[in-house]
Amino acid sequence: MEIRVTQAKTNRTRPKDSDLGFGQVFTDHMFVMDYSEDIGWHDPRIEPYADLSISPSAMVLHYGQAIFEGLKAYKTLDKKICLFRARNNFERMNRSAKGMCIPRFDIDFVMDALKQLIRLEEKWIPETIGTSLYIRPTIIATDPFLGVRASFTYKFYIILSSVGAYYAEGLNPVKIWVSKDHVRAAKGGVGEFKTAGNYAASLIASEKAKKEGYAQVLWLDALERKYIEEVGAMNIFFLIDDELVTPNLTGTILPGITRYSVISLAKNWGMNISERKISIDEVFKAHEDGKLKEVFGSGTAAVISPVGEIKYGDKVISIGDGTPGETAMKFYNALTDIQYGKAEDKENWIEIID
Ligand code: PLP
Ligand code: COI
Repeated sequence: MEIRVTQAKTNRTRPKDSDLGFGQVFTDHMFVMDYSEDIGWHDPRIEPYADLSISPSAMVLHYGQAIFEGLKAYKTLDKKICLFRARNNFERMNRSAKGMCIPRFDIDFVMDALKQLIRLEEKWIPETIGTSLYIRPTIIATDPFLGVRASFTYKFYIILSSVGAYYAEGLNPVKIWVSKDHVRAAKGGVGEFKTAGNYAASLIASEKAKKEGYAQVLWLDALERKYIEEVGAMNIFFLIDDELVTPNLTGTILPGITRYSVISLAKNWGMNISERKISIDEVFKAHEDGKLKEVFGSGTAAVISPVGEIKYGDKVISIGDGTPGETAMKFYNALTDIQYGKAEDKENWIEIID
């Protein structure tokens, strides 16, 4: 399929790297293609970034049939543009598509389209370490119909955003709040898919966390409200003595690509890494026994985010001394060194866009 390109007439400039937050600055162009049952995915195009035109009865607006991804492009120290594990994101997106009854797409084609879009938007890629071009591929259901069923038509689009740190805290430890009353996802549900409704369902608990001064929610399992799952926008790791623990994938949490990367690095470094069930009681007990050395989250937007405080009911624990822990920094540096071309990419995670 040929990608039709319409150039934007605007000549906007990118804000200073130091002014970039997360998800507010959008680039000049976007990639769009449509799906219909008779012709499949068609009419791929790169066009000026603009509002989408969809019917107010479009199914996505009523029943939330939508999936998305989050990945990043970086400017390396020698001024090359690279993608980090992009193919893994599109593989996960196709798994989300299957789970949400959305038609899958050809990954090679979408990778090529993304590269073409990024080449056109090169000036929007910030260059300072800690900044990047955040990529948001999305698919929405567009049938104008009020009955509940899977849509017959869809729109796939990719928008780009110049970003800095996700949390206002930057690399300083964030505070997280354990939700006792709300759950994010149950077994047999859609927790492992990156679908819009998972985030909508998380908002009420996030608002409660925010009111108490916490950055995000730490979710427990839906059945026993005992085992740790993940945080609002990242997976979670605990360093207990010398064991690095992260919850195993049970179908209810997002299989994070940064999580896989941390696990690979930890294995390569000969660390004692476990993917297993870990209860909130175990974490508080480890803290009481002086064994909870570090806690940190992992995610594309969050990168590696040290956690400095956890609140569960009336109990609050502080981890570390208010500065990022040594292990979290080791993972942060290892990942960003690969992403910004400072270290050899031994795992083949990087794809250079020429
Ligand atoms: N968990 C949730 C709920 C997320 O939204 C994200 C972000 O994508 C992650 C975990 C981390 O996943 P990844 O490392 O693939 O960005
Ligand atoms: C990401 O890390 O890419 C995410 O999608 C998290 C988010 C919902 C901002």
